Amino acid sequence: TAVVADTIVLTADRMIDVNNGRVITQAAIVVNDNIITASGKANTLNLPADATRVDLGDATLMPGLMDMHVHLTSDATQHGYKRLEVSLPRATITGVKHAKQTLEAGFTTVRNVGAPGFTDVALKDAINAGDIPGPRMFVAGPSLGVTGGHCDNNLLPFEYKHYSEGVADGPWEVRKKVRRNIKYGATVIKFCATGGVLSKGTKVGAQQYSLEEMKALVEEAHLRGLTVATHAHGTSGIKDAIRAGVDSVEHVSLLDDEAIALAKEHGTYFSMDIYVTEYILGEGEKAGILEESLNKERKVGKLQRENFAKAVNAGVNMVFGSDAGVYPHGDNPKQFARMVTFGMTPMQAIQAATINSATLLKQSSTLGSLDEGKLADIVAVPGNPLEDMSRMEDVHFVMKDGAIVKSLAM
Ligand code: ARG
Repeated sequence: TAVVADTIVLTADRMIDVNNGRVITQAAIVVNDNIITASGKANTLNLPADATRVDLGDATLMPGLMDMHVHLTSDATQHGYKRLEVSLPRATITGVKHAKQTLEAGFTTVRNVGAPGFTDVALKDAINAGDIPGPRMFVAGPSLGVTGGHCDNNLLPFEYKHYSEGVADGPWEVRKKVRRNIKYGATVIKFCATGGVLSKGTKVGAQQYSLEEMKALVEEAHLRGLTVATHAHGTSGIKDAIRAGVDSVEHVSLLDDEAIALAKEHGTYFSMDIYVTEYILGEGEKAGILEESLNKERKVGKLQRENFAKAVNAGVNMVFGSDAGVYPHGDNPKQFARMVTFGMTPMQAIQAATINSATLLKQSSTLGSLDEGKLADIVAVPGNPLEDMSRMEDVHFVMKDGAIVKSLAM
């Protein structure tokens, strides 16, 4: 008989089958080393008798959660001018703490969409080397953006000559910047198509990159096999980014019917951070967020939530993207309940954070569901989140790559 010393059998009252959008009761998952070798209704599986058994009881098993929009090396208590005090090494160390908090909240995979100085690459390398705990990371390095745009840093006056290293203008500069990011370890490309809330002197609705620049940027990234995420709140920027072929649009606050139609036509994913508005308006001022940003948020947050419902109803591909880093890491799951309040079914919200995100990352052959053959990234919450989405804020069990990293009594 086969050696089963490295085999774990997880059982629980419920398991979420994200591919078919259904719940399997009295479920079991067999994990061999770091791979799921079987999953389904316990009494239909051939469970190895001498495996380690972990029975979670009245709990719901689901694939490891995936957040497509985080900034692990950013600290939610340091915004605006306070952020200028944070050195790159200091930001990286903060990221170590945030990586652990994120994993323990149930997020076994994140896409880090923007980090100055490639601090995200260092963090990812440390996690992959086993030096520190943290999620699987897809990393962008510095976000690309136009001079003076949302992805530049416009806090200091001219004589300081301060700008972000992702600044690039014109098709060839953006291509070069993509190549440079890849050289230093980026595995995804992030750029800013429009103004934003938290940047000084930008208009949320105004487009920043031209269609010509976006086409060059996306083409260059795709040539090299990387997917592209774009920050876009404003309508024309959202539409030109989709026309340019981006894989996901972030925020997507001021969309219109044409933007929805374009996204459906191109298969573009929307990553809408609809929780963060509560933190910005509640805690933002204390954290140093500029008054002009608070004003922008007061206008944009409500519209974004209404447009989230429109996009969901229209059947646009949706992923889970939180913008944690603007708000505290580990609080990522607070967005689940809002996604349900603003138009998703609980199952859709969980699919957004699992199989849809895995598909966006082109990792659905190894991540995103509990199917046989996938990597053993598995989480569980007590009770049934489909009846109460706030359960998602209480992940008690986390397995990443076959290793149990958290297990609280349930
Ligand atoms: N990083 C984003 C920006 O500065 C945050 C937007 C948050 N607001 C919102 N309603 N999603 O634009």
